[in-house]
Amino acid sequence: MNPIGRFLSTLFLFLVFPSCLSIDIIAPNHSIKDGDVLVSSGQSYELGFFGSGIDSTRRYVGIWYRKVSERTVVWVANRDNPINSTSGVLAINKQGNLVIYENNRSSVPVWSTNVPASISMTNCTAQLLDSGNLVLVQRDSKGVLWQSFDHGTDTLLAGMKLGLDLKIGLNRSLSSWKSKDDPGTGTILYGIDPSGFPQLFLYKGQTRWWRGGPWTGLRWSGVPEMTPTYIFNVTFVNSVDEVSIFYTMSNPSIISRMVVNESGIVQRLSWNDRDQQWIGIWSAPKEPCDTYGQCGPNSNCDPYQANDFICKCLPGFEPKSPQEWYLRDGSGGCVRKPNVSTCRSGEGFVKVARVKVPDTSMARANTSSRLKECEQECLRNCSCTAYASADERGLGCLRWYGDLVDTRTFSDVGQEIYIRVDRAELVSAKYEKSGPLANKGKQAILIVSVGVTLFLIIFLVCWLVKKRREARDRTRRNEFPLSLTSTSNCWRDLPIKEFEKGTSSSDLPLFDLSVIAAATNNFSGANKLGEGGFGSVYKGLLHDGKEIAVKRLAKYSGQGINEFRTEVELIAKLQHRNLVRILGCCIQGREKMLIYEYLPNKSLDSFIFNEPRRSQLDWSTRYNIICGIARGILYLHQDSRLRIIHRDLKASNVLLDASMNPKISDFGMARIFGVDQIEANTNRVVGT
Ligand SMILES: *[C@@H]1O[C@H](CO)[C@@H](O)[C@H](O)[C@H]1NC(C)=O
Ligand SMILES: *[C@@H]1O[C@H](CO)[C@@H](O)[C@H](O)[C@H]1NC(C)=O
Ligand SMILES: *[C@@H]1O[C@H](CO)[C@@H](O)[C@H](O)[C@H]1NC(C)=O
Ligand SMILES: *[C@@H]1O[C@H](CO)[C@@H](O)[C@H](O)[C@H]1NC(C)=O
Ligand SMILES: *[C@@H]1O[C@H](CO)[C@@H](O)[C@H](O)[C@H]1NC(C)=O
Ligand SMILES: *[C@@H]1O[C@H](CO)[C@@H](O)[C@H](O)[C@H]1NC(C)=O
Ligand SMILES: *[C@@H]1O[C@H](CO)[C@@H](O)[C@H](O)[C@H]1NC(C)=O
Ligand SMILES: *[C@@H]1O[C@H](CO)[C@@H](O)[C@H](O)[C@H]1NC(C)=O
Ligand SMILES: *[C@@H]1O[C@H](CO)[C@@H](O)[C@H](O)[C@H]1NC(C)=O
Ligand SMILES: *[C@@H]1O[C@H](CO)[C@@H](O)[C@H](O)[C@H]1NC(C)=O
Repeated sequence: MNPIGRFLSTLFLFLVFPSCLSIDIIAPNHSIKDGDVLVSSGQSYELGFFGSGIDSTRRYVGIWYRKVSERTVVWVANRDNPINSTSGVLAINKQGNLVIYENNRSSVPVWSTNVPASISMTNCTAQLLDSGNLVLVQRDSKGVLWQSFDHGTDTLLAGMKLGLDLKIGLNRSLSSWKSKDDPGTGTILYGIDPSGFPQLFLYKGQTRWWRGGPWTGLRWSGVPEMTPTYIFNVTFVNSVDEVSIFYTMSNPSIISRMVVNESGIVQRLSWNDRDQQWIGIWSAPKEPCDTYGQCGPNSNCDPYQANDFICKCLPGFEPKSPQEWYLRDGSGGCVRKPNVSTCRSGEGFVKVARVKVPDTSMARANTSSRLKECEQECLRNCSCTAYASADERGLGCLRWYGDLVDTRTFSDVGQEIYIRVDRAELVSAKYEKSGPLANKGKQAILIVSVGVTLFLIIFLVCWLVKKRREARDRTRRNEFPLSLTSTSNCWRDLPIKEFEKGTSSSDLPLFDLSVIAAATNNFSGANKLGEGGFGSVYKGLLHDGKEIAVKRLAKYSGQGINEFRTEVELIAKLQHRNLVRILGCCIQGREKMLIYEYLPNKSLDSFIFNEPRRSQLDWSTRYNIICGIARGILYLHQDSRLRIIHRDLKASNVLLDASMNPKISDFGMARIFGVDQIEANTNRVVGT
């Protein structure tokens, strides 16, 4: 393309998509009109005017994702001061502030970054960074005077901090929109309260609504789901200058955000590019126990207990109003049991595990003391009611003085808290813990010794039986050397009594191991047909020229012996065109094998899942195969002498003979039912 052409096409693009070409900077003599869009350098975010409400009449300046098809606004500038027309202008004013004017003639801004002129020195530019942060930069010093990340609306993006900067007196928090189409400041507030030991809170108006709790070193105490992952890297800072938290994404291509929504829920969402929608990963509060102070003071909200009332007094406490408690109203909470002393009279601590620790707004923390020192410290002062480890990774001590509010139990993860109780409570707690064993020591010893003796006897018997069987195997091998012995049959060799030997119609021949080894070329890899759940299958050629398939059970598959029994037992009794035919078996020492007729076309799955072979299956063949399988199953279920459920029917267990007739194989998982039986239970999980 020649230079003029390039110039013309650029001009064309500029005229048609002025927004796409605009840079990510607003300079002093440059302004953004309604309809213009500022794009961050990495194309992740866009800034511009957007409309909300009926007919989009109320106009706001906001930042949204550029790569997300569903318009998702992550920040709003003039959220409480919308412009009523599309004539709005975003610009840098003479004082160096970023401002929004109602139109290009007005001089009083509807919104401003409000940086004092003494700091801005009238010379600033605004830039939309690729993190979604809009920064106001002093042109000379390059210092950031203001950033949208410090003035979040309802969304926490990666890299954005939540919490306090004590040096400059900044309290970063999030608040929900008023409603789905009104970005105005709503009533739900999300932030960090630094009093006592810093905690994460969600407020509904003035009241505490949900407590994320203190930071435990790895996560918030009230967010057990927050395990360290490879996706989010969360950093909590607690110093004299700063109490804040932020997260980064290990993989920046994942689009994820945390949002406080107007129904009073904090949620983390991730963009699913394939389905083109936001997927919720986590949210809080979720259940009644998450509601702040659900069970009143000194109680524990436990959704996992057996009776249906979630509230339970902490050890040493009893319901303040037993009547309300009985009526399932826990809000009154619990009080110390009467007439007990927890002050210098043999008191101690009882552990309550897997909890969100109580509100630490009034608690004392010492981040350098160990749990033992913590206990001593708490014991020394009679008004100390509980202590816990502040950091899951070790050091740190939290002590409570007074009521314990908003404790709850989690199902698995959680912290341990130690509650101060009087001596009687301590003794009964110890008794409960070490319980019957300690008290009824003699009985326990008796039970254990009887158990051990029984075990020894059983072990001895098993060992003797095994020895005898091995000896018998050895003699048999000497009896039938190197030959097919049709005088013997498989039943005799199976180590099971429940076989109805008498009723067996077929005398299944027993093959000698050496015959099978010779036929399969010593189980050579070249002869291997496949690998099943319990061993391998080999192709073999007997010296009379007959082709066979040998299923060799894995030597040490303890599970296999049951399946082997079932298979021999079943298949020998079943005779049907659509069931694979067994020719014999081979048992020697640990080797167990089944010998089948060989089916040249292998299994059905080798056709279905193989593109070129699939075309060999024309419709009539398919139809034949389907009918064949169905006939085989009908026979198993109804027409045979036994009632059998195969339990592992799949394409790889349907074999095909030379003329593509299907034969069901692999009865290892099958189960036999009585002929009249219509129902049974099993506690073995099997099959596909
Ligand atoms: C901005 O515009 C004014 C008047 O049009 C001009 O005097 C001034 O030099 C411009 N400033 C910059 C930084 O371009
Ligand atoms: C827009 O209209 C609303 C109500 O009609 C009014 O309260 C608000 O001040 C107007 N905004 C501006 C910037 O004039
Ligand atoms: C203000 O906006 C109007 C209409 O958008 C336009 O005609 C006019 O030239 C603008 N004035 C200035 C000073 O930019
Ligand atoms: C703003 O910056 C420009 C370029 O650095 C400089 O020439 C100008 O004097 C500055 N204006 C003020 C008021 O500081
Ligand atoms: C900061 O805001 C949170 C709520 O978002 C509040 O709980 C806390 O008290 C505030 N901290 C200060 C020092 O104002
Ligand atoms: C997590 O973030 C912190 C602070 O930004 C950084 O020091 C650390 O290396 C990060 N860890 C990982 C695994 O990315
Ligand atoms: C707030 O989030 C919850 C949980 O994801 C959701 O069920 C609810 O519909 C959301 N509310 C609004 C107003 O979007
Ligand atoms: C508690 O002790 C006081 C005096 O020591 C006694 O009057 C009161 O009856 C006791 N209450 C109970 C429930 O034992
Ligand atoms: C914190 O604990 C350590 C060790 O127990 C102790 O030496 C130190 O004085 C404690 N600090 C405070 C402020 O109590
Ligand atoms: C016990 O702790 C409370 C609260 O921290 C404090 O006011 C009181 O002085 C302490 N008492 C003693 C004896 O240290």
